[in-house]
Amino acid sequence: MQRQPEPELMEGRQQVQAYAAADFGAGDAHTLGLLAGLIDRTGALPPTPTLVDLGCGPGNITLRLAKAFPEARVIGVDGSLEMLAVAEHRAKALALNVEFRCCDLRSLDGLRADLVTSNSLLHHLHQPDLLWRTTAVIAAPGCRVLHRDLRRPPTMDALDQLQQRHLSDAPSLLIRDFRASLAAAFEIQEVEDQLHEAGLGSWTVEPEDDRYLVVSGLVK
Ligand SMILES: C[S@@+](CC[C@H](N)C(=O)[O-])C[C@H]1O[C@@H](n2cnc3c(N)ncnc32)[C@H](O)[C@@H]1O
Repeated sequence: MQRQPEPELMEGRQQVQAYAAADFGAGDAHTLGLLAGLIDRTGALPPTPTLVDLGCGPGNITLRLAKAFPEARVIGVDGSLEMLAVAEHRAKALALNVEFRCCDLRSLDGLRADLVTSNSLLHHLHQPDLLWRTTAVIAAPGCRVLHRDLRRPPTMDALDQLQQRHLSDAPSLLIRDFRASLAAAFEIQEVEDQLHEAGLGSWTVEPEDDRYLVVSGLVK
């Protein structure tokens, strides 16, 4: 199936509210587990690390990072003011110390991250190398990297089945966005090619269950 890009930013109020209200808890907890595994394999982070969550949306992963790493400086980045308003509200309600930056990945600089992560961001990007370049630009030496995203099913039938299996009973806006996201996502081979082209061929790309892929690695 050919990739069908979708808008990069999620800015519509109803779209943001539907996304923020959805329960991604199991996947988010799994992502934190993957990050813990990566740190276990690659050695402890510095004592007061900087952790950056790109395309943080309503803060699903950012807030979990702040809870799991209370000694860290945690920064969530998103180009959507509407998303960040939800994220900031949640951080405040939980009394978590998180910094949010409203900017496009293209204008992100001046950061030195010890860990860079993203969840469900790559498929939004019109030029996927933006994620790989941005990660490389903000990574401090030894930075841990973990990007998790949907992967594109091979056919429209397979896409229909994924939606039936995972999101048959949900608000129509969420179903529409899930289907658009699957169609905009990349296949594992495409991501491997992107990494190779970016000089990041040592990072691994692995499938996760029937609809995700996980990129992980270390910046030397
Ligand atoms: C599907 S949401 C994922 C939110 C969150 N990471 C999560 O795990 O639920 C993708 C987010 O990436 C943001 N985004 C997409 N392209 C971006 C860009 N070029 N610069 C900054 N943010 C971007 C969107 O605004 C949206 O909030």
